[in-house]
Amino acid sequence: MTTSSDKPVSYIAAGAPSVIKAGGVANLDLPILNLATNESSFGASPLALEAIQKRASDPHRYPDPSSTDLRNAIGNAFDLDPALITCGNGSEEVIDGIARVYARPGDEILFSEYGFLQFPIVCHRTGATAVIAAADGLKTDVDNLLAAVTDKTKIVFVANPDNPTGTWIPSTEMRRLRDNLPGHVVLVVDSAYCEYVDHPDFTDGMELVEGHDNVIVTRTFSKAWGLAGLRVGWGYGPASMIGALNLMRGIGNVNAMAQAGAVAALKDPAHVDMVRTKTDEARAKFDHDLQRFGVVTVPGAANFVLVKFPIENTNRRAMDAHRHLAAENIYVRSNEDYGLDDYLRITVGTTEECDRVIESLERFFAD
Ligand SMILES: Cc1ncc(COP(=O)(O)O)c(C=O)c1O
Repeated sequence: MTTSSDKPVSYIAAGAPSVIKAGGVANLDLPILNLATNESSFGASPLALEAIQKRASDPHRYPDPSSTDLRNAIGNAFDLDPALITCGNGSEEVIDGIARVYARPGDEILFSEYGFLQFPIVCHRTGATAVIAAADGLKTDVDNLLAAVTDKTKIVFVANPDNPTGTWIPSTEMRRLRDNLPGHVVLVVDSAYCEYVDHPDFTDGMELVEGHDNVIVTRTFSKAWGLAGLRVGWGYGPASMIGALNLMRGIGNVNAMAQAGAVAALKDPAHVDMVRTKTDEARAKFDHDLQRFGVVTVPGAANFVLVKFPIENTNRRAMDAHRHLAAENIYVRSNEDYGLDDYLRITVGTTEECDRVIESLERFFAD
């Protein structure tokens, strides 16, 4: 276990690809391919596009400050009480709000090693101390999290699947974590990538909330729903927490086009099914194609692959590949800020996009 309340924040927040261009100059003839931020390459539902355009013709009207239609649509889609839902400018805002409501300087916020980078960011914002529980390999370890809980712990964040690892822990482990946390600790289940996991042992976290006043789940429209540019996320939790978060957030925090687009997207769950199927297909082929380079891919279930580059080949390390890909206008995510220097995180785009990465890596490993 380590604490890092005073470490500098030396990373770029999710959303901005960390780009290094070889020799400072990218090959401008090639179109830019951003596979650094885990957006969906499969776009949004046509219903969402239509609704956004329609609402865009009334920009002089404020959005509904309570996101009422959106909360009702989410409640309807996932069989949840809309009164227990709060909406945010991306799930990032909901996560940030939880930290601001529940943590103060001197408090501890606990998360796993290789946990999503926004967790240490909210520690810096609130002045709380980040406590990092050792992972089991690249997986969240519930025993290590529980062992790190103290009287000062206010929040435990678990991204499941995790970013950047893509690994996930089963519902039995999530329940064990919840059931063994003291009542004064808020458990946040960050389910940003839950739509990509189709496994009987997986929980999107909703069931964990029932009967517990210290558990909240965060979700997003940025990934499988293909609405990253709109910034819409939401949280589902007990009335006390949702009430506090609603008091804390800005008025009109989810803009009108975002609300309209997300409501319409929810009418098209088949779009998400298509995205999951196509992502699975592309991931399987990408994973298979990557093997020829002698790299190691981490088994994960989100819309990205974490790839470990061989360290014995000193000219073919992860950062060299990052530079090479950037010079061909392919942006992927390096992971030194996670302590994973030998790894690149590459979003699974369309099969054609993944093929372009493979072709570029062929040149990288051939030289
Ligand atoms: C694990 C995880 N949680 C939350 C987010 C935030 O997503 P958004 O603010 O777009 O909803 C991301 C974005 O990459 C993520 O990877």
